[in-house]
Amino acid sequence: MENNKRPENMERITTPQLAEQFIAQQVEEIRQQVGDKKVLLALSGGVDSSVVAALLIRAVGKQLVCVHVNHGLLRKGEPEQVVRVFRDEMDANLVYVDAVDRFLDKLQGVADPETKRKIIGAEFIRVFEEEARKQEGIEFLAQGTIYPDILESGPVKAHHNVGGLPEDLQFELVEPLRLLFKDEVRVVGKALGLPDNMVFRQPFPGPGLGVRCLGAITRDRLEAVRESDAILREEFAKNGLEGKVWQYFTIIPDFKSVGVRDNKRADEWPVIIRAVNTRDAMTATVEDVPFALLQHITDRITHEVKGVNRVLYDLTPKPTGTIEWE
Ligand code: XMP
Repeated sequence: MENNKRPENMERITTPQLAEQFIAQQVEEIRQQVGDKKVLLALSGGVDSSVVAALLIRAVGKQLVCVHVNHGLLRKGEPEQVVRVFRDEMDANLVYVDAVDRFLDKLQGVADPETKRKIIGAEFIRVFEEEARKQEGIEFLAQGTIYPDILESGPVKAHHNVGGLPEDLQFELVEPLRLLFKDEVRVVGKALGLPDNMVFRQPFPGPGLGVRCLGAITRDRLEAVRESDAILREEFAKNGLEGKVWQYFTIIPDFKSVGVRDNKRADEWPVIIRAVNTRDAMTATVEDVPFALLQHITDRITHEVKGVNRVLYDLTPKPTGTIEWE
């Protein structure tokens, strides 16, 4: 793709008006590039792919085919929101792929974090490839590449999602956000009518809850990490911490400790809360969450999440800890 350098005089998109100008110009360019052909997009529901989807829906409507792969490692409510926003509200051509069993079967018994990441990445490409082969007449592949991706990867394109498709599926790329920084993508997303919790959401790793369910993933622990994460997010939102804290989530280790439930000793899992602030994710500090709120969240998690009897708060900055646990 030529034209991958942000012109020095390009104005920063900071207002709805500037976003509208950008959108109008991109809609024109996308229509010229794509004509009456079909475009494929892997739509994770993250900020970048969601904004690309909304932009392409505006430009070429049903010529865009969005593929949402539910790999079972998304947060509570995310797959449902993708379907609601894009299929129901924006009338998009959306293929929803329930690949939960497929991913969890492949991951069964795999404890090494990097092997888990590789399996998740490779399986994602395989599922996407299968869906791409089912579609007739695709000539373009849209991607949510943003300017930092280009700056980081130099001349080789290495955006996280669907690099790695086989030779015969090398489509021409459509990358309308390639000159934008993240904050600009959010302003554009808002102007396109995407919900705030999609546009302003915290970073979420590609392997998702897979790296927060430590060691070999099991369905019961995965459910516990998903439910405890949902409680944490709900309480942070209620208490004004959503949008203030850079990244916050729960982790479930693969060991139990003894506790008391219904007057009996019972072995159950702990859940760890992580809440950090950072500029660039290279270093991070821990959010000073009010103690009373931590106690309330602990109470909710230990009573509402099956199999969890303790909650811990990770006080470790990066370094020496990383943000994720594996
Ligand atoms: P760490 O744990 O290295 O994380 O301090 C820094 C940031 O990167 C995110 N992260 C990932 N993102 N795939 C991703 O897309 C991954 O495998 C991955 N591992 C960590 C992490 O959530 C944090 O924002």
